[in-house]
Amino acid sequence: MIVGKVVWVTGASSGIGLALVERLLGWGNTVIASARNLGSLESLTVPLASKLHLLPCDIGDADSMRAASAAMETLTEHLDIAILNAGICEYVDLPRLDSESVARVFNVNMVGTSRCVEIALPLLEKSPAGVLAGISSLSSVVPFPRAEAYGASKAALDYFFDALAIDLHDSPVTVSVIRPGFVATPLTDKNDFDMPAIVQPERAVREILWAIESRKRWHAFPKRLAWTLNLMAMCKPFWRRILAPRMRKA
Ligand SMILES: NC(=O)c1ccc[n+]([C@@H]2O[C@H](COP(=O)([O-])OP(=O)(O)OC[C@H]3O[C@@H](n4cnc5c(N)ncnc54)[C@H](OP(=O)(O)O)[C@@H]3O)[C@@H](O)[C@H]2O)c1
Repeated sequence: MIVGKVVWVTGASSGIGLALVERLLGWGNTVIASARNLGSLESLTVPLASKLHLLPCDIGDADSMRAASAAMETLTEHLDIAILNAGICEYVDLPRLDSESVARVFNVNMVGTSRCVEIALPLLEKSPAGVLAGISSLSSVVPFPRAEAYGASKAALDYFFDALAIDLHDSPVTVSVIRPGFVATPLTDKNDFDMPAIVQPERAVREILWAIESRKRWHAFPKRLAWTLNLMAMCKPFWRRILAPRMRKA
């Protein structure tokens, strides 16, 4: 159980992030919660809310993140854990490839996360054992239909955190990358295809916090889906020709 820590959660207004905030507050942590619209957090009960600090920001906007960095300094002198969870998904509908959509997804999922790392890292280094946790996706293991933007942004994020882990080898900060499968949230509510092994946000919270507490470099869930996709990554022709086409929009 994670107790008495100072934790920054991005993407805290909905889905996995909101569930993480509730659990971390319930365990007695101080939580700094970020998203563009934090209205959903105003309904939390008062005892929990006293350890909750709202840090609204748009991670896709450099000016907003400069302001967030200054505001963060007024909230805390250090961070024990940063869970960089904010993300968006936009699907590609061929034959039209909208490069603006690709840019939007990369600007939030990849560049936006790097803006958060820029703020979090100096504060994590002030903790005796900080954890920088990135929420990637199992979609980065093999190419999914219509996920040219989303899946590629998560694969870029994997590389980014891998490189960071090498560069932070001698620092007290541990880098942890968590790859969820399908989780029932507003992000997946709009999906019009079958989502195998979909789990509830509470399960995602359990897995993410376990990975952070155990200082796992990599953690993927649910296990059976992760194993299957890793196997498919070794048999890409089978995945590309047989299985992946079945996941296309009807
Ligand atoms: N659900 C899944 O099946 C699944 C699977 C694998 C990975 N993931 C990853 O898990 C993370 C959370 O997803 P979710 O399913 O919980 O989605 P969600 O319910 O749509 O939540 C996304 C969160 O990100 C925030 N966000 C989006 N754009 C932002 C921006 N420009 N600046 C700041 N915050 C922003 C949203 O808040 P505002 O709109 O208020 O800004 C919201 O709090 C994402 O990184 C997603 O890629 C999800």
